[in-house]
Amino acid sequence: MPDESKPLYYWDYLQLDRILDAQRPLSGDDGPAAHDETLFIVVHQAFELWFKQILHELDLVMTIFGRDHVPEKDVGRAVSALRRITEIQRLLIQQLDVLETMTPLDFLDFRDRLIPASGFQSVQFRLIENRLGLTPRHRLKIRGAAYSDVLSREHAGWLHDTEHEPSLLDHVDRWLGRTPFLHFGDFDFWHAYRQAVDEMLARDRRVIETHPNLDEGERAEQIARLEVTVATFAALFDRDRWSALMARGKRRLSHDAVLAALLINLYRDEPMLQLPFRFLMGLVDLDEGFSAWRQRHALLAHRMIGGRIGTGGTSGHEYLEAAAAKHHVFDDLLDLPTFFIPRSALPELPVEVQGQLGFRYSPA
Ligand code: HEM
Repeated sequence: MPDESKPLYYWDYLQLDRILDAQRPLSGDDGPAAHDETLFIVVHQAFELWFKQILHELDLVMTIFGRDHVPEKDVGRAVSALRRITEIQRLLIQQLDVLETMTPLDFLDFRDRLIPASGFQSVQFRLIENRLGLTPRHRLKIRGAAYSDVLSREHAGWLHDTEHEPSLLDHVDRWLGRTPFLHFGDFDFWHAYRQAVDEMLARDRRVIETHPNLDEGERAEQIARLEVTVATFAALFDRDRWSALMARGKRRLSHDAVLAALLINLYRDEPMLQLPFRFLMGLVDLDEGFSAWRQRHALLAHRMIGGRIGTGGTSGHEYLEAAAAKHHVFDDLLDLPTFFIPRSALPELPVEVQGQLGFRYSPA
């Protein structure tokens, strides 16, 4: 219980006794102290504190989107929380510059003492991944082992529980799937959009077939690429094909959710769609922020340990690069621009639909 008679004291409020007493370098116990080990510990601890803050912000976003109805003003709060996380991610990437003032030789002064501990065992990092929706199926396996095999039984238990809880991806999928924007009364948006797409693809085909600067080989190559785009669109227009891609783990968002996300992106200039659009962009920023961090961390590991294995026993920077390439969650949102058509080709929304998507203000 705080003593009410005493004014609050900065040191006590922040529990600095505990925090500042938690840097205990291992070197120096039975040999020369490695000066840089303190930096190594402080940087990791700072990371873990920021991971804690990221989880706190994610909790807010998940509480908002876990509900059956998401009020407009709460979408704004979620957008702000995502923005805060992306700023933290920027800071995390910058912190690695501070760590790189330690040279590989300085690191060698204490590195071997760390084995088998590693950032690979960061429970909070794994929690963030699980909360976002990175499933065991979408993770890299290391020599057939799961990420949780290197954790204490207690920590592995926590993480396994979160694997079975709805993730942010699940919440977003459900929210998008029930968006009212998918159906506009008599106006069949998807028919109109499909016509616009067919015209755009036919135009692209004509350009390739008649372009004077392409030789026959280049023309054939361009047509083959166009066919890939045509097939991608075909999956978008065909629920069964989309479900087949989901079953193979190639797509994560449901067909309805992707159509809603596409619509929100295409008509984002409509006032009612601005906040949902900014929220979707926030998710893309979040995924991109973690990818940027993973790539930067892989470069740091390469520079610090060269081609050696990590203290946690992975192949080191090669594993980290592969994880950076694979461990995404919101790929479906990242891939959406494949389906964009220019504003000028967008089907015009009927006036009553435009009215529904505008802000309404009625003075008392
Ligand atoms: C000298 C600096 C560092 C080196 C050489 C390094 C190296 C590595 C290596 C090689 C791995 C792969 C697992 C293993 O075999 O150990 C790893 C994983 C990891 N490290 Fe670092 N690391 C460094 C700093 C940091 C910092 C400051 C953090 C911040 C918390 C961090 C967080 C992580 C995380 C979260 C993983 C798991 C990544 C994943 O599985 O996708 N590392 N690190």
